[in-house]
Formats: sequence, structure tokens, C-alpha cells
Amino acid sequence: MPQEEEIMAIKVSENGRLFTLQTKDSSYQMFADDKNVLLHLYYGEKIGEENLSGLIFCTDMGFAGNPEEAGPNRKYSLDTLPQEIPGSGVGDFRDDMIEIRHADGSFAADFRFDSFEILDHSYAIPGMPALYDTEEEKGETLVITMTEKASDIVLKLFYGVFEKENVITRAARLENHGETAIELEKMLSFSMDLMYENYEMIYFSGRHAMERTAERIPVQHAKVEIGSTRGTSSHHYNPAVILCEEGADETHGSCIGACLVYSGNFVAAAQKDQKNQTRFQMGIHPTNFCFHLEKGEAFDTPQAILSYSGTGLTKLSQQYHEIIREHICRGAYKHAKRPILINNWEATYFNFNEEKILKIAEQAQKLGIEMLVLDDGWFGKREDDNSGLGDWFVNEKKMNGSMAQLAEKIHKMGMKFGLWFEPEMISEDSDLYRAHPDWAFAIPGRVPNHSRNQLVLDMTREDVREYLLERLTTIVHDAKIDYVKWDMNRSVCDVYSHVAAQNRNGELYHRYVLGVYDLLERFLAACPDLLLEGCSGGGGRYDAGMMYYSPQIWCSDNTDAINRLSIQYGSSFFYPISTVGSHVSVCPNHQTGRVTPFRTRGDVALAGSFGYEMDLNKISDEEKEMVKEQVATMHTYYDLTHEGLYYRLTGLKKQDFMAWEFVAKDQSRALLTIVKTDAEGNMLPVHTKVCGLAENKLYRCSLDGEIRSGRTWNRAGLTLHQVLKEYESIRVEFTEVE
Ligand code: DGJ
Repeated sequence: MPQEEEIMAIKVSENGRLFTLQTKDSSYQMFADDKNVLLHLYYGEKIGEENLSGLIFCTDMGFAGNPEEAGPNRKYSLDTLPQEIPGSGVGDFRDDMIEIRHADGSFAADFRFDSFEILDHSYAIPGMPALYDTEEEKGETLVITMTEKASDIVLKLFYGVFEKENVITRAARLENHGETAIELEKMLSFSMDLMYENYEMIYFSGRHAMERTAERIPVQHAKVEIGSTRGTSSHHYNPAVILCEEGADETHGSCIGACLVYSGNFVAAAQKDQKNQTRFQMGIHPTNFCFHLEKGEAFDTPQAILSYSGTGLTKLSQQYHEIIREHICRGAYKHAKRPILINNWEATYFNFNEEKILKIAEQAQKLGIEMLVLDDGWFGKREDDNSGLGDWFVNEKKMNGSMAQLAEKIHKMGMKFGLWFEPEMISEDSDLYRAHPDWAFAIPGRVPNHSRNQLVLDMTREDVREYLLERLTTIVHDAKIDYVKWDMNRSVCDVYSHVAAQNRNGELYHRYVLGVYDLLERFLAACPDLLLEGCSGGGGRYDAGMMYYSPQIWCSDNTDAINRLSIQYGSSFFYPISTVGSHVSVCPNHQTGRVTPFRTRGDVALAGSFGYEMDLNKISDEEKEMVKEQVATMHTYYDLTHEGLYYRLTGLKKQDFMAWEFVAKDQSRALLTIVKTDAEGNMLPVHTKVCGLAENKLYRCSLDGEIRSGRTWNRAGLTLHQVLKEYESIRVEFTEVE
């Protein structure tokens, strides 16, 4: 065990039963009571280390049974106590966290405190992404060991603490030490019972091309639950939710965030119990989940990143931005400047050849764009989306030569070269499928669903992953490719593996995700200089799990600047702006038909990892000049957008403009952007908040040269003296003056 002075954040009482996790501004407390039940006592604003078990009101609530250790005490019930690890089938009738079917057919899980250990570093989870230590900052870990009351099952609870970011992580590992096999039918990453507060849940729902719309709902006795059973985290719900105090806003109120570092099926739920305590849970969705654990086998949950802010949503988001940027994102481009890219997808779709691609690249290069990304259609027989997936061999006829030759031509222009793959998929009309039909998920005796006319590869198979690894690395190495866009274009169903034992089929959704992570890990190890951009039909897998491999993710297939405002707004609650893949495209927009000014499209895309998605040969000279200006603007503000602090200046309620702001970490300058989203006759003024400027510094505003103190700007805000027409945008810079 490390020395006490080495451990700053994890405080344990002398009797070893009271645990207080301290971050800069928050505290989390739990206590193993005299019956070894692990009670949740507190998560909120920073407090001392006094035992808060006195906050619990024990009463006989009726129909709330008493465990044997309570003897005649009818007031002690697992059904009413605030717990960290609610069992199942043994007297807590609320939603459980772990469900086990034992060899005798019984369902019971009753975990009791056994011991603890403290580590002076972060914990890793086998085969899964998790927050990692850096030279600048190390986490601390509390490992609590629990044992199941009537079987030889051990549960290890992991609590990680990152003090500076006010982050506490949770994950758990269940080990079967018994002689007989068990079936694990549910195992979440965390559960906690918050005793007295009233909460609202903010979650992010949507659909393909319209992801992460923020919604807010009170948590009452009817359960508020979101999740995905699509095999991916999904466009439909994002694996990140906030429980906030009623009425909390950007700058007021307590908020608890929970963000799952996972890219597959998940559930997040909150519900008040009969005592008005809120049970808050998150983890792998129990639907279609069942892990068979033989003696000696273990199951690890994904990690959940919890964070607390006592002063509203902006602080909470900034804490998530920092922790994800510094302790999830990895690789050569974690901090290195990302190239401004041009992607040919909306310019050509499948209808391209070498000549067209080179022309797009040549024009892009003249305008200052730094990388050409060749999207879908360069391989196998792929003239539309009905065939070819899996045949990762260059179509040399279409490309007029090898990929290395094309890449060389692009590199000679002084540009980087990127390539699209969709490794996890297979078309029935492909050589790969003809050779290995059993590599696709399909349940014997059933015809599998087609989606985009493609099937899903069985990523749980080692041979499938070996094939993909060989193909991807060979192409990347041969052609000296700088960037890969890793796409995934359908939900996963009809899951059945031809190599897994039949009693292991309930493991496949999770093993699929582990397979993807394994392939990503090995691919990146073989190509360490690569910039990987994640994608799943846009933002269908826009989650902290994927961000461990790809520091930017194509945030949505929707490039309409106005729709993007809401998508990027929703994304900003948890994910750093640097992770948002964001492009300027043509108008009328291909997804919505809307026409927006070229300038606005640029200003919206600037709030992300910036690029273009159009044929630059087909735009006017005036627009070409604007591209040059936008490219220059991107360089000017790169440090702000990728490393600065982000502020949402407008919110969920309907208004006729949206605004956001980036502030440099040293508060020397800030960039504020306003987009007019609705227009009326006799227009009312646009007045916006200004945030985050240093109180005692003076700042000049780029609009009218006005100089005021940060304190004044932060409180009085800014009024535009020009009328913005519908969809027009404006950028305002604040610069520190001596
Ligand atoms: C979906 C992606 O989101 C698009 O950008 C594009 O890459 C297509 N797939 C290609 O099939």
C-alpha cells in the first residue's frame, strides 16, 4: 500500500470502513456498515471526512424485508438503504445492478464488504478503454473487495479519482471462484442512491443525421431510462447523462455527469424509490446479455466517468472536456495540429476516378487545405452501397493504378492523404463473403436483416480480425497513408457466432465491442503516426470509448449548418470540441435542402476539427476567397477551439440565435460566434452573454474596438448593432490589452 502522503484524494477512516473520495471541489462518501452492506452516503460539493451515515433515516416502511443480520430490527432493510451495490433477489426490490443465475437455478446476488486496497495510479480494464495516467497527472484508485454471501463469487469495485478535473470513475470486476459455473445476466458499471435531492435528467437523443438533441426531464417515481441495444452506442441515445438539481443552468446548481467509456449496448437510468431517494445507474444493457463464467473466469464492466459541478453545466462540461482530451484521447494527434481536410464524399459519392480526385485535391491545395480524404468506393466492386465491403483491395482500374501511386501524387502536392474503411462490415456480393459466409453474423435457420444491404462481420473471431488487420496495415503502410476514416454503417442484430459455444451467445454483443477495440488497438500500434477519425454513419458511435482510439469523430452525416448547431450543442455537454469532425458543404444542403451563407457554414464548422466536403472546382471565385479566409481563420483560432475553454451562451429554450465562445486557457483572448437561426420583421436586438474573461484584465472587442474589463464584459454582455438576417453569422474576438 502506498504511503499516506502519496495518497491525497482517497481518505479512509481508522477502522477501514468509511471511504471519502476527495477531488478539488467534490466529495464522494460510502460506508461499510456493521452488516457489511456498502452504503452510499454522499456525492456533491466538497465536504469534510465526517461519517454521514447519520443522514440515513431508518424506519419500518412495511413490505420492506429484513436480512438475517437485522434480527428483530424491522427498520433495517436492504429495500430502503442507500447503497453502492444493490443486490438482486434478496430483499432490495428496486432495480438491481448485478443479476446472477447459479448452478442450482436460483437467482441471487448479495454482496458484502470484505476489504480494500489503495493504488497510487489509475486502474486499467482488460481489453477496454479507460482513463489513463499521464506524466503531468496521475489518478488514484480505491479497490473495494466484496464477497457474495452464499457463494464463492468475488466482486471488485474500482473507484478512480482525478482530483483536478473533479472526476471519479467507477468500474467493477466479478470473479467466479466457485466450483460451478454461473450465468451473469446483468452487470452494470455503477449504481448509487442519492438520498434527498430532487433531480432532472439531461440526456441526448436523436436519429441518424440528427444526433444528440438535448432533452431534460424530471426524475420521479416513474423510471427515466435511455439506452441502446443496437450493438453500438447509437445515434438514438448517447451514453452520457446528467442528473442536475431542478432549475440548474449553465452557471448555477449542482450537476452530476455520468459518461460511459464504451461503444456498445448501454443503459442509463434514474428513478425515485418509495423514500424519494434517487437510484442512478449506468452500464451495459442487460438485454441480450448473459455471460457464462466457469470457475476462475471473470467479467469486467466498462468504466463510467462521473463528475460533479456545484456551479452548473458549463463547469461540468469543461471538466469532461479536460478529462477526455487529456486522459482518453491518445496517439500522435492528441495535441498535434490536425490537418484541415477535404473529403470527396458529398462531392462525388461513388462516382469518381483518379482524375476527379486529383482535381479536387489540386484546387483544395491552392486554397490552403492540407489533406485529401478519399471516401467510400475505392476498393473491390463498389460502385454503389450494395457490394464490395470486405474486399479491401484497391480497384486499380477505377483508380488508374495503385493506392501508393495516388497517395504519392497527393503527397507531391504537399498534402496529406487519408482513406475511408468500413472494416466491421461485409457485403454478400463480395469475394470475402463468397469465401467465408460464416464470417458474417447470421442465426442458423433465419435470414439476417440487411441494412444498407450489408451484413455485420463476426468481430469476436480472431481470424476475422487477423484478416482485417493485415488488409488495413498493408494498405496504410504501402501507400504511406496519413489518416483513416473508420466507418460503421448499420446497427447490429441477428447475432450468432459460428465459432462460439452455444451457451456463449449472450456474450456476443459485448465480445463484438471487445473485438473492435482489439483490432483498433493492434492497428494503431502498427500505424502509430496515423490520425484516426471515427465514424458510424456520422455520430452513431460518438462516445468516450471510441475517443480512446480516434481523437476526432465525424459527428453527424448532417452537414446542414443550422441542424449542426443543435447537434454540436448536444455534443458539447461531454465531449471536447476537438473531437467534433465538422465540415463545410455545398448548398442547397444535401440532407435538408436548406441554403445558408457560406460564411455561416464556415463559422459553424470552425467549432470542431475543421474540413470541407464539396467539389471546390464547382464553387464561385468569391466562395474560393472565402475558403482561403476560413482556412486562415482556422489557423488563427486553432489553439482556442482545440485547447481552450468552451462556453455555451444560449440554451435549450427557443430563441432566435445561438451563440458560443472559446476562451484561451491563459484568458488572453476569446472568440465568440453568433448564428441567427430565425428571423422576424422589425428585428429585435441580439444581446448575448460573454463568459470566462479574466475579471481584472482589459479586453478590446473586435466589433467596435470598445475596451472594457473582463468583469464588465462578463456581466453586461454584448449587443450587436447590426441586424443579422436569417442564418447569418458573426464572429467577435476579445483581445487582452495591456
Ligand atoms: C457514412 C459516413 O458518415 C459518410 O461520411 C460516408 O463516409 C459514407 N458512410 C460512405 O459510405
